[in-house]
Amino acid sequence: MENINWSELSFGYMTTDCNVRCSYKDGAWGDLEFTSSEYIPMHMAATCLHYGQEAFEGLKAFRGKDGKIRVFRIEENAKRMQHTSEGILMAKFPIDKFREAVIEAVKRNERFVPPYESGASLYIRPLLIGTSAQVGVKPATEYMFLIFVTPVGPYFKEGFKPTPVVILRQYDRAAPLGTGKYKVGGNYAASLSAGEKAHEMGYSMVLYLDARYKKYVDECGPANFFGIKDNTYITPQSESILPSITNDSLQQIAKSMGMKVEQRPIPEEELATFEEAGACGTAAVISPILRIDDIDEDKSYVFSKDGEAGPTCLKLYNKLRAIQYGDEPDTFGFVTVIE
Ligand code: PLP
Ligand code: COI
Repeated sequence: MENINWSELSFGYMTTDCNVRCSYKDGAWGDLEFTSSEYIPMHMAATCLHYGQEAFEGLKAFRGKDGKIRVFRIEENAKRMQHTSEGILMAKFPIDKFREAVIEAVKRNERFVPPYESGASLYIRPLLIGTSAQVGVKPATEYMFLIFVTPVGPYFKEGFKPTPVVILRQYDRAAPLGTGKYKVGGNYAASLSAGEKAHEMGYSMVLYLDARYKKYVDECGPANFFGIKDNTYITPQSESILPSITNDSLQQIAKSMGMKVEQRPIPEEELATFEEAGACGTAAVISPILRIDDIDEDKSYVFSKDGEAGPTCLKLYNKLRAIQYGDEPDTFGFVTVIE
């Protein structure tokens, strides 16, 4: 513990003091339980193992200059987990209980919240799984909710430096009317192969085109895509992308800075008109895009000539981080201060 080099942390797992659990049985959620065990005893026929009844979330806590800990948009993550649960027929975890569980998980691991100066944060990972045995394809009758936390640094080792992104037309992440809009493990399994291929080729992420027409910009790796032009923040409207809470926050921030915001289909050709582009998400924060290569079509869209992030990405990033760390007042009501 004494040896953690906070400013060198990557986005990885580290054992902490405590995780929070809660079980659903006979139609009701039990009390929150706290444990230091990193293992889950589970029935071998649990639905999460066989039929992918698994939902997760990701949010972060930040230590401010004032020493206080702030958690970003807890309710939004709670609501999205409920939405995912509706999508794959799991018991919904109550919003108030989610909030309490997050706060307890942070408080009981307070010593793992990185210091302000490090620029690192505490990643909070809620998980919901179907635990009862089922052999036919049917939803479980019993569920387990849990939250673990782990201190993290940047998702991409480059941090806020722009990275190259690739379009791989042989892969889809999600079907148009499928589960892309839910935060379920299956979507990430479906993205592993394309993701690894992209990494081998020197790219940080895959930019998926819509699966039906291969014409519109869809999801960007484990993040949403946005482009900037003419003082406008433009982000895809799509049935198959995860409604990112970071993206929603950036839209609110952009409006407050006098920018226009458009959420609409983005045809691939329009990429050529963007002054800047980025990927956004809890883990990625804003990851500016250097260049997008559509390798099968032999096209390239360049967003940074000098290898640095553009001015609008930088402004949005600085404002978001300032709210998260408490450097600037939270006029949006995004953060919960842990007392
Ligand atoms: N899209 C995908 C596929 C993700 O995994 C994530 C990460 O949570 C996001 C977008 C960004 O969502 P959020 O900003 O709520 O973290
Ligand atoms: C997040 O941004 O929180 C994510 O979930 C992305 C990835 C770690 C799955």
